[in-house]
Amino acid sequence: MTSAPGFSALSLRLSDEPDPAWEVHALAAQRRAAGEDIIMLSIGEPDSPPPAAVLTEIEASIARGRTRYSNARGEDSVIAAICAYATKQAGREIRPEHVNFFPGAQTALFGMLMTVVGPGDGLIVPEPFYAPYTQVLGATGVEVSHIALHPEHAFHPSIDELHAAISSRTRAMVITNPHNPTGSVLTRDELMAIAELCREHNMWLVADEVYNEFIYEGEFTSVLALEGYEDRTIALGTLSKSYAMTGFRHGWAISPAEAGARAGVLLEAMLFGCVQFIQDAGTVALSDGGAFPRAEREKYLRRLDKVMAELEGSDVIHPRRPEAGMFVMIDIRPSGLDADTFAKRLLDEQKVAVLPTHTFGPSGAGHIRISLGMDDDTLVEATRRIRRFADAL
Ligand SMILES: Cc1ncc(COP(=O)(O)O)c(C=O)c1O
Repeated sequence: MTSAPGFSALSLRLSDEPDPAWEVHALAAQRRAAGEDIIMLSIGEPDSPPPAAVLTEIEASIARGRTRYSNARGEDSVIAAICAYATKQAGREIRPEHVNFFPGAQTALFGMLMTVVGPGDGLIVPEPFYAPYTQVLGATGVEVSHIALHPEHAFHPSIDELHAAISSRTRAMVITNPHNPTGSVLTRDELMAIAELCREHNMWLVADEVYNEFIYEGEFTSVLALEGYEDRTIALGTLSKSYAMTGFRHGWAISPAEAGARAGVLLEAMLFGCVQFIQDAGTVALSDGGAFPRAEREKYLRRLDKVMAELEGSDVIHPRRPEAGMFVMIDIRPSGLDADTFAKRLLDEQKVAVLPTHTFGPSGAGHIRISLGMDDDTLVEATRRIRRFADAL
């Protein structure tokens, strides 16, 4: 008997172990499915339905026959809508040759990294980071280096540490701005300093900007707005969070034209075009002048204020007010428990699911993350349970 033919190097680089980042979430989801009344604050899913106009457009688009093959880089109409949106962020004209439509920002990260780096190259990503990056970066075969985002620096990166992490093989830096799980937003000066490092060392600067619409403090600057760095900046966007359209898989990448063209070929190979009526729905979403994301931001800000008020004054846990995003990190170090134990006991004793953030990287240790994607009353109830659990420790 011969042995089975085996697998590619790419496939073998990807771990088929369950991702430990989601352990508490998976456990909670299982128990909830079995009938336990568990409040899930462990995932970044908006609780609002998508805009009504989007749902109407899906039906209308299907009725118009928009159920055919599309083209690799995206339908003209949605590309035009993305160009208009990104032009506002960039303060310069973003044209169709800069844009590729992807089924979500995560796929956009995958596609753009596959386009610009590969095995043997080095890439820097600060940790903690959004857990699925591990597999996305793993697929490319790059050698990944991390720098720590320290809680003492409000999880903002040290430019010196970034500089020190660069080697002769480093070809790209990936930043998440605004950041998940920490909720930090890079200042324009920080971004400029990072972009300058990338220019000095001839690297790509890839920015995952999926939380760009939910800014509570300071100002968001897209990498697209950094003048003089247009030849190396790639920005990833999505409607998943801003328009509560996670399941639509509607995202994009904005890049220099040549990178866009090359990524387009990869898209052709991989997807042979995305769903027409989904793209149409996105075009309609983006035509609202930002009304929907503004309302979502107001909602999250209101909830954030409530969470902060509930947790204020505890000696055992300290919420960190995020500058942006959909999450609140809570420093649980004074409790004396590690975050895993804290999260598991909280689930057992108070039936609230949260994520321990060391699973996003070691610098997230001693913290848990809760999502604001839950209706106000349930969120307040969950926060009270967290407080009760902590105070009893
Ligand atoms: C930082 C970050 N990037 C990307 C994504 C995924 O975005 P999309 O749904 O557009 O693929 C998420 C979702 O939670 C995220 O937190």
